[in-house]
Amino acid sequence: ITAETITVGGKTYNKDSTTNVTPTILEKTTRQLHLIPTHPIAIIKNLIASTFPDFKHYDQFSPVVTTKENFDDLCFAADHPGRAVTDTYYLNEKIMLRTHTSAHQLQVMKESDKILVTADVYRRDEIDASHYPVFHQMEGAQLFDAKTAVEDIRNLIAAGSSAATAAITTEDTTQITPENPKQECHEEAAMLAVADHLKYSLNLMIRKLFSHEKDLQVRWIDATFPFTSPSWEMEILYQGKWLEVLGCGVSRQDILNNAGKPGKIGWAFGLGLERLALVLFGIPDIRLFWSQDDRFLKQFEPSKIQKFKSFSKYPPCIKDIAFWTTPNFHENNFCEIVRDVAGDIAEDVQLIDEFTHPKTKKHSVCYRINYRSMDRNVTNIEINEIQEKLRQEVVDRMKVELR
Ligand code: PHE
Repeated sequence: ITAETITVGGKTYNKDSTTNVTPTILEKTTRQLHLIPTHPIAIIKNLIASTFPDFKHYDQFSPVVTTKENFDDLCFAADHPGRAVTDTYYLNEKIMLRTHTSAHQLQVMKESDKILVTADVYRRDEIDASHYPVFHQMEGAQLFDAKTAVEDIRNLIAAGSSAATAAITTEDTTQITPENPKQECHEEAAMLAVADHLKYSLNLMIRKLFSHEKDLQVRWIDATFPFTSPSWEMEILYQGKWLEVLGCGVSRQDILNNAGKPGKIGWAFGLGLERLALVLFGIPDIRLFWSQDDRFLKQFEPSKIQKFKSFSKYPPCIKDIAFWTTPNFHENNFCEIVRDVAGDIAEDVQLIDEFTHPKTKKHSVCYRINYRSMDRNVTNIEINEIQEKLRQEVVDRMKVELR
């Protein structure tokens, strides 16, 4: 292993000018929170899976995928912003960490007509209580024979439970419009039946998840994804705000055709497990999911939703860093360096002072970094070392002048 290669999950990849994964991020690929039965992420995963009982569930795919699997196969345009190196972690130009579980759609649709995929997904992001560069998604898809879809779906819904959907208030303002169109290749009746079955299935799923909630409010809105049309999002009302829970739609026929299923029509959805776990368990900070502290991990039991009991935090260690900026200085680049050097110990980064020198016109910023571990007391000595490393990296990578 040389500095020119990266090893993930026992496989080695060549680096190139696109490479932007960091050791801190690669460490996360080994954690597999969705496979720990007492972890809230796995508890939600299993509850959702139980509402799709005869679906084939894949939850052990490697996070390393090709750009073809993550984007091209899913009809992403060549210039789609999701492909940018500022948004996505690349091992090299062609190999990346998946940004969504949809990256496995084509592969699993070849094998089955009813599939679920649960996995860790990776997106570059800022640093605070609701943003984290790794989270978990669950993908679902169901395919029907295009010729008999209308009748098959009518029978399925008639045989299913209507009591479960009756108990939720669902608002549906979606419309098939030129902005959110039917695909030309689809019969309108079949597409509408698939759309009905999709919303019916997901309404059942959310009702089951929130069975303790007497008046859950759910709404459907129009959306856009490169790999479905028409497309929708489900939102739930939580603490007075509409919270996006999932994206879904009628699968692009190209994907089904490429999976060797030209005679089928189907739906797909993708949902974020952290979002649901935060709401259902009342967990205040997304970083808690990554805690190795028994006070977190020992609170939960398989298959049971229970409110999180907060425990006292370890003390923080606060350090400031001030420097003269360069004209192209961007706060996100600074945050990425902090994340890289300090990992999860960097709890919060805030600009606390800023001024322009009246004579030289040089611009100065001062950032306050709150270092804190979720699991243990940090020592001043170790934080000083991290801070020293940060000071060096900031100069090396951003060419700024420390003050
Ligand atoms: N992959 C989409 C996302 O990450 C969600 C999605 C999945 C939408 C499947 C439609 C169908 O936002």
